Amino acid sequence: MQETSVTKAILGIGVIGAGYISEVHLRQILRLYPQAKLIALCDTDSLRAKELGHAFGIEQVTDSYREVIENPNVDVIHNCTPNHLHYSINKEALQAGKHLLSEKPLATTWEEASELTALAKELGLEAGVNFCYRYYPVVQEAAAKSRRGDLGEVRMLTGSYFQDHLSREDDYNWRLNPDLSGPSAMMADLGSHWLDLVEFVGNHRIVEVFADFHTAFPVRKQGTQSVSCPLEDIATLLLRLDNGARGSFITSQMAVGKRCTIDLQIYGSEQSIAWNHERSAELWIGHRDQANQTLIESPLLQSEESRRYAVLPSGHVMGYHDAMFNLFQDFYHAVQRNRDVAYVGEGYPTFNDATKQLSILESIIRSAQTGHWITVNQQLAAVAH
Ligand SMILES: NC(=O)c1ccc[n+]([C@@H]2O[C@H](COP(=O)([O-])OP(=O)(O)OC[C@H]3O[C@@H](n4cnc5c(N)ncnc54)[C@H](O)[C@@H]3O)[C@@H](O)[C@H]2O)c1
Repeated sequence: MQETSVTKAILGIGVIGAGYISEVHLRQILRLYPQAKLIALCDTDSLRAKELGHAFGIEQVTDSYREVIENPNVDVIHNCTPNHLHYSINKEALQAGKHLLSEKPLATTWEEASELTALAKELGLEAGVNFCYRYYPVVQEAAAKSRRGDLGEVRMLTGSYFQDHLSREDDYNWRLNPDLSGPSAMMADLGSHWLDLVEFVGNHRIVEVFADFHTAFPVRKQGTQSVSCPLEDIATLLLRLDNGARGSFITSQMAVGKRCTIDLQIYGSEQSIAWNHERSAELWIGHRDQANQTLIESPLLQSEESRRYAVLPSGHVMGYHDAMFNLFQDFYHAVQRNRDVAYVGEGYPTFNDATKQLSILESIIRSAQTGHWITVNQQLAAVAH
């Protein structure tokens, strides 16, 4: 039998983008060896690419993403570029037959995302999105509890995602530029993670949304320059789930003192659960007729469904890198299984998940523009697989 790239013993990995999140990817990719090996890195900032390429001992370092895509030894691509490049680079990578792990949001529109999803399915390629917060061990336990029905009927939920690196008028980031970020800043950047958690942990779909976007600094200072920043820097949301449950959410990168604080509380008829990223190893479980509990991450105490994500010895807690490594492992298992089955597309956050989420994001943006409740178009959301 002719050896195709995916039947090789070690999968070759190429990373496009060498910025903040790329370095986190690179560190976790090293942990995949000998299953997979980092062999190519690209950034248009060639100095940064060289610096990281040298630090990680990468064979091919380039400033052209096409050279990574065209490298026949690259089987899997991690796309870590800013949002506006996700669609075009993802599309070219899929067309070249590469499995793909993309950063979020998958694209800047639902249409682009659904095209990518259909393409991955048609070509039989694994295509995942880095919704890494799902992969903290107790978040997996929360999702398992919800799927088992421990919560009873989910009635309401609330939460937030706060950071503070844009709190001053002279703070600036590409996320505030619609040409690079797409039509939303906060909701696309932070909200995408929280919305993914709601559906993954809550085990229900978001069907209606009402949003308010506010731009505290429509113009920001960059040295002596004034830069127009039309996108929202504070976003609030009311939402309804498919079972009638009600929810609320607020997000901003202007929350002074909050570096990366994600909060999710889900209230059911039997039990409630709450998780906060500042204490990411703890899951609060609320009861009516007995004392509330706090489950601390542990391979000994977690259920069968979530135990495999708590890989450290009991009493030692995992962090952001480990959560991302958990996701990478699920994704790479699917890529390995893809050798026998044309397409796996499960066990990790898929392009399909991210496409459904973009239909929610587009509904949120429309609500903020019109001041009305918007029904998320579930028909549009139910794409290819
Ligand atoms: N999953 C997470 O937890 C998480 C966290 C942070 C960022 N992200 C996502 O990762 C993406 C990148 O964010 P970041 O914070 O790393 O941004 P960043 O600005 O730090 O890095 C982006 C890099 O892409 C490079 N780049 C731009 N155009 C390029 C091109 N044509 N070819 C190759 N490289 C190019 C830039 O030079 C830069 O080094 C965003 O989509 C963001 O939403 C995800």
